[in-house]
Amino acid sequence: MLFDSHAHVNDKRYEDDQHEMIMRAFESGVELIMLPGASLESSLSGVELSKKYDFIYSAVGIHPHDTKNMDDMTLEMIKGLAKNSKVKAIGEIGLDYYYDFSPRDVQKKWFEEQLLLAKELNLPVIIHDRDAHQDVMDILTKVDAFETGVVMHCYSGSKELALEYVKKGAYISFAGPVTFKNARKAKEAAAVVPLDRLLIETDSPYLTPDPFRGKRNEPEYVKFVAMAIAGIRGISFDEVANITYDNAKRIFKIE
Ligand code: NI
Repeated sequence: MLFDSHAHVNDKRYEDDQHEMIMRAFESGVELIMLPGASLESSLSGVELSKKYDFIYSAVGIHPHDTKNMDDMTLEMIKGLAKNSKVKAIGEIGLDYYYDFSPRDVQKKWFEEQLLLAKELNLPVIIHDRDAHQDVMDILTKVDAFETGVVMHCYSGSKELALEYVKKGAYISFAGPVTFKNARKAKEAAAVVPLDRLLIETDSPYLTPDPFRGKRNEPEYVKFVAMAIAGIRGISFDEVANITYDNAKRIFKIE
């Protein structure tokens, strides 16, 4: 059993084979998928898609790239969507100082507003942090987001920071980069996160793991992430699969 804790299966790159791709994952053992939102449109289509498949759950939220277009009405609509029974988190939200597609002060404002919404709704958050490690930690701490649950998606920080997050109660999710030969930092972090805080994801259609790096990603390939972590930890594939499955069910409160 595998739980892909982050897969954008509503992405337009799947428009020709979405159902086949989803069933291919299911038949290869991916028994649960978390589908995060990134914009208002993708949050809406994600909720709709999660209603069609028992084993797909969704998160709603505005990615930092899109916060430049966000306003109070957007936040209200996210709040409305979050009340659907298949929605189990607010995300993906956070800060992205690598691309800086939205001004940093705007990113911070809406990151904080969405964290407060998650607390109000008693939902965990899925965090996107690219080159913004200190500000992300500061804002999460300031609003005490850890109380309702934090998932550090596609973790890219140091092992020290990972352990700091673990101490605060967060879960650390690893994606395709742990399968790359040169991804020293991700491998180091994956080696030290306690097993009961570990999650695996594909971030489909992005970040395709080896041996398919460069091609379109899909949830079926989460097994390569699990294999890489099993290798790093010196434990079996089944152990990684089962523990990350249970962890994701726990943080997203899925029965
Ligand atoms: Ni994502």
